[in-house]
Amino acid sequence: MNPGSIYKISGALVLAHGLKEAVLNEMVEIGELKIPGEIIRIDRDTCYIQSYEETAGLLVGESVVLKGEPLSVVLGPGLLGTIFDGIQRPLNKLKELSGDFIKRGCIVEPLDMEKKWNFNPVKQPGDVVKEGDIIGIVKEGAYFEHRIMVPIGISGTIEEIQKGDFSLKETVARLTGGIDLTMTWTAAVKTPIPCVEKLDPDNPFLTGQRVLDFLFPLATGGSAMIPGGFGTGKTVLEQSIAKYSLADVIIYVGCGERGNEMTDLLEEFSELKDPRTGNPLMDRTVLIANTSNMPVAAREASIYTGVTIAEYFRQMGYDTALIADSTTRWAEALREISGRLEELPGEEGFPTYLSSRITSFYERSGYIRCFSSEERFGSLTIIGAVSPAGGDFSEPVTSETLKVTGTFWGLEKELAYRRHYPAINWNTSYSLYSQLLDGWYKKKYGIEFINLRKWAINILFSDGQLQQIVQLVGPDSLQDDDRLILETANLIKESFLQQSAFDESDAYCTLIRQYIMMSAIKKFFETANKIVKEKKSFSEVSDLKERKLILELKEHSDDEILEKFDLNLDKDED
Ligand SMILES: Nc1ncnc2c1ncn2[C@@H]1O[C@H](COP(=O)(O)OP(=O)(O)OP(=O)(O)O)[C@@H](O)[C@H]1O
Ligand SMILES: [Mg+2]
Repeated sequence: MNPGSIYKISGALVLAHGLKEAVLNEMVEIGELKIPGEIIRIDRDTCYIQSYEETAGLLVGESVVLKGEPLSVVLGPGLLGTIFDGIQRPLNKLKELSGDFIKRGCIVEPLDMEKKWNFNPVKQPGDVVKEGDIIGIVKEGAYFEHRIMVPIGISGTIEEIQKGDFSLKETVARLTGGIDLTMTWTAAVKTPIPCVEKLDPDNPFLTGQRVLDFLFPLATGGSAMIPGGFGTGKTVLEQSIAKYSLADVIIYVGCGERGNEMTDLLEEFSELKDPRTGNPLMDRTVLIANTSNMPVAAREASIYTGVTIAEYFRQMGYDTALIADSTTRWAEALREISGRLEELPGEEGFPTYLSSRITSFYERSGYIRCFSSEERFGSLTIIGAVSPAGGDFSEPVTSETLKVTGTFWGLEKELAYRRHYPAINWNTSYSLYSQLLDGWYKKKYGIEFINLRKWAINILFSDGQLQQIVQLVGPDSLQDDDRLILETANLIKESFLQQSAFDESDAYCTLIRQYIMMSAIKKFFETANKIVKEKKSFSEVSDLKERKLILELKEHSDDEILEKFDLNLDKDED
């Protein structure tokens, strides 16, 4: 096939003529450097190509070659623990090839094709297999079971199946009709990996962050947004979730954010242990780095690369999570490309299809029944940070994301200024999953848990109203029962809602511990309320032993505080 040729270059956009057989979203190699690019519009003989690397130095007339496939990822053993760029090139391989400063046009295999993996078949010759069926297991890291599956769209009877050490290039099973299966899949990133059906999520996605799990719970398979102005704590919160949430696989996409933050994350992750298994956290993590100093166009791709990898692990029957920081930078990349294409701009210069792009991204989350002959379920939870300029939540990326995500964890700059972290505004944040998850909480801890949450929300709400009165007429005008509400709300804020991400013992909090802590606060309130009802001096409230106990709680282990509170709970389940 004859190559086309460049006739115009405008930032990350390259226009080429002569690519007669081009299809939309097809990948190309641009120029002598073989820079990867994607065809994003075709207008008669002109192909508009989004370049995934800097275009400086490219010349008009250089060739453009069609690759015959859309932007795809290679999926298989070796994904976990790897750091990729936005188009799935492993950063360590790029470094080997080009040193600290990545040269353009580096072509590297996403996964190590030479390394041998121990393949253990779970099927045998004669077995009929369908798309998505597991045919074998590969142990990845110390504990992770990488399930090797029949690719979507393929089925047949197994003629031959291997056992032993194989590289990703080698065939591990042969189906009738001469279909050879390796341990890898290739998937186009902009098309979701299909599932049989999406189900209503009914399990919480526990993050270890008290304000989230207790007040605004996210569902496993749900979606959440973390909007917050500059420096309000989005990155710290997302990284805490990546470290401590109860997911089997975490895909963390650093999208257009600072490179040094990503470096810190890498250093930290390599030392941290998974709180559940004690194994290195990297063993369940895939990192995708497209930091602010990397090309803009690959930012758009990084989100899709991440979500497709997450879908692949979900298809194995795992609970996966995609954490993106920040989706605003992704939307800005869309805006830049759209501007270069001279498309009619929508609100604030974002393309008119911003809303549909955001929707189709978050729609890839879900608790699903996987494609397979056996019954298997998996989930993908998506958490995206949004960084509205000036903290203005009415801007398009925030408002469009708000329409499609189920949980809103709004960060507020006043709280961050006061160093109340995580700076989640308890008055404006919400979860649409609360009711769906009530059954789960009820089964585990009884109706008391749900009542406790309602009680805490009521106290915080009443506190908000009383604060307005206090601002008008001062605290002395309040009755003792109102003062007690302020006092209790303060306790909730200081000892429960605030949680330091940097204090080893506080960075992660089990649900049972959250329950105990809030129960202790309620106990204090009830005892103090008696004092108030008996019209005793309010100073007695501050001296209550129940109050001191709450402040002491942080210093004790779960077991120790369980002894102090007779809650009759089955702790082992947590
Ligand atoms: N949970 C927390 N515990 C302790 N400190 C925190 C917490 N969250 C945020 N901080 C403090 O706030 C600072 C800024 O947080 P972070 O970098 O996460 O903000 P951001 O919203 O991602 O900022 P940007 O808009 O620049 O990306 C941190 O360096 C840290 O000092
Ligand atoms: Mg940040």
